[in-house]
Amino acid sequence: GVKAKIAPSMLSSDFANLASEAQRMLDCGADWLHMDIMVILLCPPLLLLYYGISILLFLCCCRAYLDCHLMVTDPLAYVEPLGKAGASGFTFHVEVEGENPVEMVLVMTVEPGFGGQKFMPEMMDKVHTLRKKYPTLDIEVDGGLGPSTIDAAAEAGANCIVAGSSVFGAPDPAQVISLMRKSVDE
Ligand code: DX5
Ligand code: ZN
Repeated sequence: GVKAKIAPSMLSSDFANLASEAQRMLDCGADWLHMDIMVILLCPPLLLLYYGISILLFLCCCRAYLDCHLMVTDPLAYVEPLGKAGASGFTFHVEVEGENPVEMVLVMTVEPGFGGQKFMPEMMDKVHTLRKKYPTLDIEVDGGLGPSTIDAAAEAGANCIVAGSSVFGAPDPAQVISLMRKSVDE
């Protein structure tokens, strides 16, 4: 099958210690770092973009694959500046306009916006359909993933696993990461 990529979501990290949090996850065996980039309408979007860029620049020093989840209506506008700042890959939402080139498909398993929400098992039908059609595609799931939900996601065919609260909240994140990797790879 397609190899597991475990991507801790930095949204659940301690923002005051981003660089060491990133390094901690890499030391615990993370493959990617998942970066949620969203525009909060109550503050000037540009300001948030600048924060996004500086955070990425900051995290470049750990040389990790930065998996950027663009929860914005105009993802293309973000690709160049974030790419220059060190982003490695992008996912965006199918509701936005334009062509959708497919190298990896992201299936949201919570309503986008927050960490710590409940996994939506009904999304596994989508994952399963995609996996049947595209045996070698990277299929990413995001939201509510952890030890109690990983088997459902892995059985449906997901291989890229974003996990925020279950990893950052664990006493032993390395154990949670390796458990999820096993579920996908075995
Ligand atoms: C939700 C974000 C997720 C979030 C996942 O909008 O896209 O990446 O951080 O957090 P958990 O794993 O806690 O559901
Ligand atoms: Zn995300």
